Amino acid sequence: MAPFIAGVLNNPQHGITGALICRQDIYLQLLEGPADAIGKLYEGILADNRHMDVTLLNRAEVDDRMFPDWAMLHDPAHSWHWSPDEVNAGAIGNASVQELQNVFRQAGTGATTK
Ligand SMILES: Cc1cc2nc3c(=O)[nH]c(=O)nc-3n(C[C@H](O)[C@H](O)[C@H](O)COP(=O)(O)O)c2cc1C
Repeated sequence: MAPFIAGVLNNPQHGITGALICRQDIYLQLLEGPADAIGKLYEGILADNRHMDVTLLNRAEVDDRMFPDWAMLHDPAHSWHWSPDEVNAGAIGNASVQELQNVFRQAGTGATTK
C-alpha cells in the first residue's frame, strides 16, 4: 500500500485530483487534471503490476473538476449500485458515461472528511 499512498500524495504537485471507489477487488477511479499529467499517471498505473485488466472507460475535456479539493477521495463503494453479479456480467464496462459520472457524484456527496 505504501507506494500507492506515496503516489496519491504526489497528485497535488501534478495538479491531479479525483476519486477512487473500491469494492471487492475492483477499483473505479476518476482522475482529473492537466492532460499531460493525467497521461503520465495513467501510464504509471498501466505499468503498475498490482493492477490487472486496467480499462479506460472514458476520457474527456471538462470545464470543471468534480473533486477540486481532493488529492484522491476514497470511497469504499457505498456509492455504486451494481451487485457483484452485475459487476461480473460487465455492468461497469457497459455503463454510460452519465451513469459513471453519477456514481462519482454520489461518492462526492457521501464524503464527510478529507
Ligand atoms: C488502485 C490504485 C490507484 C492508484 N492511484 C494513484 C493516483 O491517484 N496517483 C498516483 O500517483 N499513483 C496512483 N497509484 C499508483 C500508480 O499505479 C503508480 O504506482 C504510481 O503512479 C507510481 O508511478 P511511477 O513509477 O511513475 O512513480 C494507484 C495504484 C493503485 C493500485
